[in-house]
Amino acid sequence: MRKKVVLITGACGEIGQALVEQLAAADPEMILTLDLDEIPGDLAGEVHHIKGSITDKSLLDRLVSEYEIDVIFHLAALLSTRAEYSPTAAHQVNVEGTLMLLELAAEQSQWRGRPVQFIYPSSIAAYGMPDLKTKAAHPRVREWEWNYPSTMYGANKLYGELLGTYFSRHYKQLAEKEPVKIDFRSVRFPGLISAFTVPSGGTSDYGPEMLHAAAKGEPYACFVRPDSTIPFMAMPDGVKALLDLANADAANLTRTVYNVGAFSLSAEEFRQQVQVAFPDTAISFEPHAKRQAIIDSWPADVDDHAAREDWGWSPEYPVDRAFAEYLVPNIRQRYAE
Ligand code: SER
Repeated sequence: MRKKVVLITGACGEIGQALVEQLAAADPEMILTLDLDEIPGDLAGEVHHIKGSITDKSLLDRLVSEYEIDVIFHLAALLSTRAEYSPTAAHQVNVEGTLMLLELAAEQSQWRGRPVQFIYPSSIAAYGMPDLKTKAAHPRVREWEWNYPSTMYGANKLYGELLGTYFSRHYKQLAEKEPVKIDFRSVRFPGLISAFTVPSGGTSDYGPEMLHAAAKGEPYACFVRPDSTIPFMAMPDGVKALLDLANADAANLTRTVYNVGAFSLSAEEFRQQVQVAFPDTAISFEPHAKRQAIIDSWPADVDDHAAREDWGWSPEYPVDRAFAEYLVPNIRQRYAE
């Protein structure tokens, strides 16, 4: 008999590590992780880990023959800054990799006779505000507004949402006998901030980079202007959003893609939060014109009332609590060790 598992791709990334840790605490036996890297530290030996690429078809075929995949958290992706340097590679991972996993999920759904749940983190990068005036005039965007991304990553994520929605509603709709559809659910994340890992390859990275540099006692030059404003979220709320959405009653879901918000900060407000805890750090602003343009195209905040109404979304870490109770104490401890 095939072993029933929850598959997590991109398990060694920032969201992956936090999610795996939480799920492994409940039932490590159920967890199958896939990543290009080895699973770090404490989790090694606890979960079933496969080192490899989501674009490796023979590897995916092997997974399907060995496991019954019940839920997929598809986290593997090349983030927004990295994707601008390697757009073709980004498309291969972010789009073709996602398509292969959706096909895998569809095949498993058919074989089991019931849907595989597919949880997909999307991003504020799916938005594209045309200019700062428009961004200021529309500070809290709804899911369907301003879907004109200016980055490869944003375009990939927006298409990933559409592709997942297609697989959950219309896949093989003209076939004589329609297959079982997958249960696709997605959240659009703000810039996530973890106390335990440092991001790489993203454009919202200036927030977490500023905080981690300050905790290490290093000066930091922020690559966007002080007034640059986007939504952020503490990592425990990111994991909570994925799990709350996965656990939501399907009958209550009116959408496949949901905004989730926690707090919105300008880079200057972020600096002030950091300097409450680390007052001696030198933080300056040296905007990088092209990364600045990407941040300017992302909304200042999101309207997440659909998530609140449909599945009870409510962040546990508003800004003050995020810094005072999660970020600062854990980061202090991390660098003290
Ligand atoms: N944090 C991501 C990035 O900056 C946005 O989803 O690319």
